[in-house]
Amino acid sequence: MSDNALPSQRPAWAALRAHYDATKTTHLRDLFATDPGRGTRMTAEAVGIFLDYSKNRVTDETLKLLLALADASDLKGRIHAMFSGEKINITENRAVLHTALRAPRGATITVDGKNVVPEVHAVLDAMAAFADRIRSGEWKGFTGKPIKNVVNIGIGGSDLGPVMANEALRFYAKRELTFRFLSNVDGTDFAETVHDLDPAETLFIVCSKTFTTQETMTNAESAREWSLAALKDKAAVAKHFVAVSTNAAEVTKFGIDTANMFGFWDWVGGRYSMDSAVGLSTMLAIGPVQFREMLAGFHAMDEHFRTTPFEKNLPALLGLISVWYGSFFGAETVAVLPYDQYLKRFPAYLQQLTMESNGKRVTLGGAEVDYQTGAVYWGEPGTNGQHSFYQLIHQGTKLIPCDFIAFCKSLNPVGRHHDLLMANVFAQAEALAFGKTAEQVKADKVPDWLVPHKTFPGNRPSNVLLLEKLTPFALGSLVALYEHTVFTQGVVWNIGSFDQWGVELGKALASKIVPELEAATEPDLKHDSSTNALITRYRAGKK
Ligand code: F6P
Repeated sequence: MSDNALPSQRPAWAALRAHYDATKTTHLRDLFATDPGRGTRMTAEAVGIFLDYSKNRVTDETLKLLLALADASDLKGRIHAMFSGEKINITENRAVLHTALRAPRGATITVDGKNVVPEVHAVLDAMAAFADRIRSGEWKGFTGKPIKNVVNIGIGGSDLGPVMANEALRFYAKRELTFRFLSNVDGTDFAETVHDLDPAETLFIVCSKTFTTQETMTNAESAREWSLAALKDKAAVAKHFVAVSTNAAEVTKFGIDTANMFGFWDWVGGRYSMDSAVGLSTMLAIGPVQFREMLAGFHAMDEHFRTTPFEKNLPALLGLISVWYGSFFGAETVAVLPYDQYLKRFPAYLQQLTMESNGKRVTLGGAEVDYQTGAVYWGEPGTNGQHSFYQLIHQGTKLIPCDFIAFCKSLNPVGRHHDLLMANVFAQAEALAFGKTAEQVKADKVPDWLVPHKTFPGNRPSNVLLLEKLTPFALGSLVALYEHTVFTQGVVWNIGSFDQWGVELGKALASKIVPELEAATEPDLKHDSSTNALITRYRAGKK
């Protein structure tokens, strides 16, 4: 497809539109009643992830048409282009090679004539050597004490992946080390992060691809001041600060020895970087061996995505089904509902991955789209969500496709807890799909006036992702699954999934406003009347 083409003009899209018009009211109850094999047929399994997609509002015909749309969008060719290092991030003229971060030693992936895999492994090896020194206590702080606390300073992709992985893999972590994540430029985040830490035992990882991000650099400077106020010697910085960045010049300027800098490359997008040096805090927590197991999980899903026919390809199926809801049913959100407490930050992580990637309104060629693109992703771990927002999913007016994520084995088997947890997963997916009819409610002897309130319409779609156990490998495969789901959506929508120009305007305006807030005398404000008035009020209020 040319960069300018609107996928909505393609015959494959028109065929789906006609199919949608013909089937949009078909109920999952009828689909299951007329097709007893559906629940076992509409499943796929790979890399330890079993996907049941039977409770979606799709038929075999829908899937055939979606797969035809994938072919018309040249999904296969686009996958090849990404994996082979073509510069598919066209607005930044960059390759998109997070898949190289987990390529095995010995693989060859070429960017601008250079094999990048040896560099990837050189950084992993340097991270591993550093992690071993910190974890064993061999690395000493400036006063000779071993490191007990690790604070990752970063934001967006330099924070959300590390935070999510730190929670997700806590079971495997070295518990003697404390991990904290400082991201917000709000001084409260800084104060609460360090308030009970001993500078002599604290290591800061300043994690920023660009090393110019305002929030991160402000927090890093405050951390350096806090550290030096106690340790009283500039030489202490080398023992208490390391950097993860692509910008060696700025790292040096900050005072960090580049020997303690772990690099990555411009072909790794921030939101696709948790398996690069950005994952240093993860490696410090779980150790190099388990970090590599996580990378193996990523890689296994990469290979599945790259080589498996789309009808059995988990990311392709999930991506196409989400396009069906977003662009045809007009569903605006997707709920991600992990039934595992360790995955409590997974929805927040997915928000940046999905929404920064596919929150786009023009095609690669710059034409405005006439269909819905990226959905709002959100969620909370089960069963907590059931007692807050599930009401709206079951009986509200909105169509909210759900992804349930669950594990057969608990890492913490306590009494009956896990069976109770899992019963809720299956019950929720069943209730959403089939609901409870007015007749069924009446049969419970409910008075007529109450029947509409107690009726569940059903026909609310969901996927269930079932894994054996939350391991580093499983987490890697799960994250890669969603990365490639996002890629599939972006290809079908013909949008650029790998830039994020939408964050720039606010950044530029904030830099202009900072001096206006800090000026000693009343500044000559030239914004709109609302912004001018707010700035004036703030200046008066902060005195
Ligand atoms: O929010 C915009 C963004 O550029 C993200 O894409 C990125 O993950 C984040 O800022 C942090 O950037 P950096 O790692 O360069 O500090």
